[in-house]
Amino acid sequence: MKWFAQAPSNIALIKYMGKRDESHNIPTNPSLSYTLDNLSSFVEVENSPAKSNHWERLDLPGAFAFSLSDAGQQRFLAHLDFLKHHFNHEGHFIVRSCNNFPMGSGLASSASSFAALTKAACRALADLTNAEEYDNDKMAALSREGSGSSCRSFYSPWALWDEDGVRSIEIGYDNFIHECIVISHEHKSISSSEAHRRVKTSPRFEDRPRRAAHHLQQLLSAFEHQDWSLAFQICWQEFHDMHDLFATAKEPFHYISQESKDVLNIVKTQWDKRGDGPLVTMDAGPNIHLLYRPDQADMAKQMKHDYFHDNYDLLEKWS
Ligand code: DP6
Repeated sequence: MKWFAQAPSNIALIKYMGKRDESHNIPTNPSLSYTLDNLSSFVEVENSPAKSNHWERLDLPGAFAFSLSDAGQQRFLAHLDFLKHHFNHEGHFIVRSCNNFPMGSGLASSASSFAALTKAACRALADLTNAEEYDNDKMAALSREGSGSSCRSFYSPWALWDEDGVRSIEIGYDNFIHECIVISHEHKSISSSEAHRRVKTSPRFEDRPRRAAHHLQQLLSAFEHQDWSLAFQICWQEFHDMHDLFATAKEPFHYISQESKDVLNIVKTQWDKRGDGPLVTMDAGPNIHLLYRPDQADMAKQMKHDYFHDNYDLLEKWS
């Protein structure tokens, strides 16, 4: 029998970076994300008579050609083992997966792929063990154990993850135009799990939970008061704060390339000139995410035409 699930990626505006408890992916600070419904992972699990679990690529029309490294496969299948153990099930599975976007370049493929695996496997395991189907909250909590940011992909359009767990939150803005300026499709040399470890050696880490909580409070208040310009400034400070942790770790590392800087400069210059523009953020990778409100569609088109269309690969969703 086969079970199939799809899950979206998400982009954090307040970043999960640094873990209080690494074995369960418990973050040191709260995070807030916007769900990217256009960037999805797809997972199929099939029960198998083999003596171990096995991963292969799922062939779906429109899927991005990719292969999962041995370490990536092991991590994915280890999460399946965790779920099997949770359901007390000993049989094995073939797991097939794919994304409709390039992975390994800071596009949060672990969020969507672990969320999709958790959904597909929970369905399979509930059926095979005659257990009740799990609700969204239960699946999100299990998914977090595999990859922290994946727990936010169970909620849309916004997810807040703090010490009380993860849940939907009403922000007053949704249906953004999302444009990801792809600077590089290359695999990251430092995975985000490794980044979570290294940032703890930065002298700036001790005060990071306070700064992140403050940014969260300021951003929620900016959204509440429809102060878009302040929201932009907080998002800008927040991703720089995370990248500063990378740069000041004992073994420093960097994702912001010259091309990333060029794009950031273009967006900043637009903001300075017009007093308006998109929200901007970057994950643990060189790519730049822009979020425009639906009523900024003309500006989004103009900026795309003037600066990005001919020079970069774009992943985009128009509302
Ligand atoms: C920079 O969820 O990929 O994207 O829990 O080790 O799987 P693990 O880490 P992961 O970390 C994501 C970090 C980030 C910021 C964010 O999404 O909040």
